[in-house]
Amino acid sequence: MPELAAREHLRNLGPVIHRALGDAGIGAAELQAIAATRGPGLPSALLAGLKTAQALAFSLRKPFLGIHHHEAHLFSPWLRGEPPAADFARFVPSISLIVSGGHTLLVHVKNEIDHHVLGSTLDDAAGECFDKIGKLMGLPYPAGPQIDRLAAGGNPRAFQFPRPMLNDPSDDFSFAGLKTSVRFFLQKHPVLLDEPAGVRDLCASAQAAIIDVLVAKTVRAALRLAMDCVTVSGGVACNSALRSQLSGACRREGLACRFAERQFCTDNAAMIAVLAERKLLAGVAPTSLDADIQPGWPL
Ligand code: KG4
Ligand code: ZN
Repeated sequence: MPELAAREHLRNLGPVIHRALGDAGIGAAELQAIAATRGPGLPSALLAGLKTAQALAFSLRKPFLGIHHHEAHLFSPWLRGEPPAADFARFVPSISLIVSGGHTLLVHVKNEIDHHVLGSTLDDAAGECFDKIGKLMGLPYPAGPQIDRLAAGGNPRAFQFPRPMLNDPSDDFSFAGLKTSVRFFLQKHPVLLDEPAGVRDLCASAQAAIIDVLVAKTVRAALRLAMDCVTVSGGVACNSALRSQLSGACRREGLACRFAERQFCTDNAAMIAVLAERKLLAGVAPTSLDADIQPGWPL
C-alpha cells in the first residue's frame, strides 16, 4: 500500500532522525555527510527518504550520497557492535547472497566497491516464498519468522517438495513452482493443518526445499570462482536453518561464512551509512541535491 507507506515514512522520519542524533549524542552540524537510499524500491517510500535527506544536506551544507539498497546489503555482514562499525580490516572478496522479501541475488564481490551480479530469482524471492507458503497455511505476514520457529520442531523429510533449479548450471533461482506444489499438496491433504505436528512437518519440509537450493547454489558459485568467503544478508538470513546449514556446508568446503548479525539482516540505516562513508573515503563524488529516485536501479 504505497500511499500508506509514504505517509508513515513522513510521520516517522523527523522523530527517527532526532532520536538517532540523540542516541549518538551529537548535533546535526557535527555530521560529516548525509546518505539515503536512492533505489531500487517503492517510489513513494524512496521519495520521502531521499528528499528529506537532500533537504537536510542542503540546509546543513553537507555532502549528500544517494545509495543503492542492494549494494548496501553487501556490506551488512561486515557490520559489528554497538554503535555499529564496519569490520573492513577483515574484508575479503566473497560470494554474497542477498535474500529478502523482494530479492534473491547472488553477487560476486571483487573488492569493497566492485561487484558483479551472478544470478537472481526469475520469479518469487526466497522471503516471498516463505510468506506465500505461510499465507496458504493461514499464518500472518510476514510468515518467515513463524515458519522458522515451527520448522524447528518438525521433520524436514516428512514431505518431498521440489528443489527448483538446483541442478541448473546458472546462478539463477526460481521459487514460484515450490509455492504452487505446496498449494497442491494442501488441496490434497487439507486436514494436515488441523494437527500441530503436521503443521510443523510441513513448515520444516517446505523450508528445507528453499534452503537446500540457496545453500547448494551459493557454495557452488564460491567454489567455481575460487572465493574463500561467503557472506549473507537480507531478512531470510535470520533463518536459523539457513544459518546452520550454510555455515556447515562452507566449513566442509573450507570456506569462511559470514552472516550479517540478526539486527543487520533486515533493512537498516547502518549499512547505508557504512557504504556512504566507504564511497566518500574512496573519492566518489557526492550525489546532486536534486537527483531523483531510481525505483528500478540495477545493481
Ligand atoms: O530484508 P527484509 O526485512 O525486507 C525486504 O524484503 O526488503 O526481508 C523480509 C523477508 C520477509 O519475507 C520475511 O518473511 C523474511 O524476510 N524473514 C524470514 C525470517 N525472518 C524474516 N524468512 C525466514 N526465516 C526467518 N527467520
Ligand atoms: Zn533490503
